[in-house]
Amino acid sequence: MKRLSTLLLTASLALPTASALAETHRMTIDTQGSAGEISRHLYGQFAEHLGRGIYDGFWKKDDQGEYVIRQDVVEALKAIAIPNLRWPGGCFADYYFWQHGIGPKEERPSVVNNLWGGVTENNAVGTHEFMALVDELGTEPVVVGNVGSGTVQDMADWWQYMNHPGESPMSRLRAENGREAPWNVEYWGVGNESWGCGGNMRPEYYADLYRRYATYLHPYENVRPFRVAAGAAGDDYHWTEVMMKRAGDMIDGLDLHHYTIQGDWVTQKGQAVDFDESDWFELMERTQEMEELLTRHIAIMDKYDPEQRVWLIVGEWGTWHEQEEGSIPGFLYQQNTLRDALTASVTLDTFHRHLDRVKMANIAQTVNVLQAMILTDGEQMILTPTYHVFDMYQVHHDAQAFPIALETGEYTYASQSLPALSGTASRDNEGRIHISLTNIDPHMTRTVEIELKGIDVTGVTRGRILVADEMNAHNTFDDPDKLMPRPYNRAHVRGDKLIVPVPAKSLITLEL
Ligand code: AHR
Repeated sequence: MKRLSTLLLTASLALPTASALAETHRMTIDTQGSAGEISRHLYGQFAEHLGRGIYDGFWKKDDQGEYVIRQDVVEALKAIAIPNLRWPGGCFADYYFWQHGIGPKEERPSVVNNLWGGVTENNAVGTHEFMALVDELGTEPVVVGNVGSGTVQDMADWWQYMNHPGESPMSRLRAENGREAPWNVEYWGVGNESWGCGGNMRPEYYADLYRRYATYLHPYENVRPFRVAAGAAGDDYHWTEVMMKRAGDMIDGLDLHHYTIQGDWVTQKGQAVDFDESDWFELMERTQEMEELLTRHIAIMDKYDPEQRVWLIVGEWGTWHEQEEGSIPGFLYQQNTLRDALTASVTLDTFHRHLDRVKMANIAQTVNVLQAMILTDGEQMILTPTYHVFDMYQVHHDAQAFPIALETGEYTYASQSLPALSGTASRDNEGRIHISLTNIDPHMTRTVEIELKGIDVTGVTRGRILVADEMNAHNTFDDPDKLMPRPYNRAHVRGDKLIVPVPAKSLITLEL
């Protein structure tokens, strides 16, 4: 990723206090144009059998030792209207045999989850339990089938088990296990990260395998499969090229994975909480990589699919830090600060710049794993700063994005610069206009003068802000509401412009 041009002001100069610093930037929103629909599926979630994501995350043991769905978690996720939930992995998907997770619990085999901590997986949560969760959440399932170690028949049977509406071996089995009606699961992953944990394949080989597995996902009158192929790892453009060329005609969604990592992925990733401004800058710089990745993968897809039929899905994204000291190795439990929150809002804005192609994304992962929405500890639960971003961005679900031009300014640290501001503007289906603005600069308030072409702006009906004094502000079980959105009322109209001071390291959403 290229560094952007350098400003004269560098962080090594004595910095004035935040209040003494301010810059003004122009933003134009064309309320008569459209930049496409912001698919709600961009706000998708992910629940893998990993660490305390499923057990002790979505589910907890009741007094009888039975796993039950946590109602506090369900209520919190319903409040942000999660549009879909991807399951059972991740890497776990290519190790998973769905047959182990149906029928009486005491008869389900235990397996070792070698990938994630070597813990025993007793399959207490399987297909019926997951679909009950989906039902309670009022969300849509995204199921990922096993290509790496499962057979074509395994996958075809699972599809039939979940979806066949009539008389068939698998619908009979489903009924015997207590569920008569099909679930009509549409989004179906054909393997996960097949270039890595999903089988270490070359794209040429996987493309053929994909075609074969996808062939046996038969449409029924109640549901047709939306077939998702494992996409590239980050900047592996060759993978996208080969997949589109050899299997594009059978792919509905291509699932790119990219994590935002500060430090070194192999030797030492950055810390979630204990970081300084150089780490802040580095993570923000890594966050900008998504723009180039999307642009280049989309250019390849456009070559083979000019009608833009195939979705580019970002099926795993988010920050990945060293896991919290003292947490179980392999469980990927990390805290979540204001820094993570602003990487999320900037990334969501990046998705919003590619709406014709990018229609679904899943942040990794929802509860207790990586950049989670929710952390639990026994009976306690806290909402992370990233949860609050997803809450504040709800206003953009299925809204029409407006074309915007934003002078981003530059946030400069140690002679390197990044765009300081990022934003989205949209109109929801009730006609309300929403504007989100993120300022990643940890020192300077940036005042945005907004021109709304096509309407006379009279004021703001609601404003919210996520901001803190410390870069690493976060919520803990002792202080769960330290960082949460607060009312924001500093936006005002001057002449025909809306003037919005965006404080250092903050996210603002406004409703007009
Ligand atoms: O989200 C954690 C892991 O990261 C997933 O299992 C895998 O798909 C990815 O490499």
